[in-house]
Amino acid sequence: MTDPDASAVSRRGFLATSAAAVAAGAVPAGSVSATTTAVGRTTAGAATTLDLTLRVNSATHRLRLDARTTLLDTLRERLHLTGTKKGCDRGQCGACTVHVDGRRVLSCLTLAAGAHGRSVTTIEGLAKGARLHPMQQAFLDCDALQCGFCTPGQIMSAVALVGEGHDGSPAETREFMSGNLCRCGAYPNIVEAVRKGGPS
Ligand code: FES
Ligand code: FES
Repeated sequence: MTDPDASAVSRRGFLATSAAAVAAGAVPAGSVSATTTAVGRTTAGAATTLDLTLRVNSATHRLRLDARTTLLDTLRERLHLTGTKKGCDRGQCGACTVHVDGRRVLSCLTLAAGAHGRSVTTIEGLAKGARLHPMQQAFLDCDALQCGFCTPGQIMSAVALVGEGHDGSPAETREFMSGNLCRCGAYPNIVEAVRKGGPS
């Protein structure tokens, strides 16, 4: 049985990862960070507009955005990648999980500016043509969903979890998936799928 305190720590750790991404999105004048190229910045009245370059699922997008725009809204409303879901929009449910430079982040808590010059992967970028990612296939095989609303976030977290090496036991899987909530309560099948979708 999962230790509830351990789960809480894991959840805090996951949120801290996204909080760090938010910090990266707090753009100092003219640049995102020392490792990314300069951001074009225009201020008109109270609004600041940024010219950003995002690499999403291997495609490069040049966008002009309000500096306050989240990565989640950019993906869904500007790039029409609606596989990433908006659940709570406040960092509590995990439905918006994507990868930035291979690490899972909550895109509702990440400014688009924080992803400038970085590589973003969404659920649409996991399959290779018609061939599903093994984790996507495992979710299907294990019937690890009911309504499916949380599923893209669950799968993105699961892929990252395997990469992080946090799939040593069912208890560890539950702990490191604890930031992804499922209102349908499909947790037993989700855990089974995560374990099946990782390297055997
Ligand atoms: Fe981002 Fe819920 S929509 S954590
Ligand atoms: Fe419905 Fe998870 S399958 S919220």
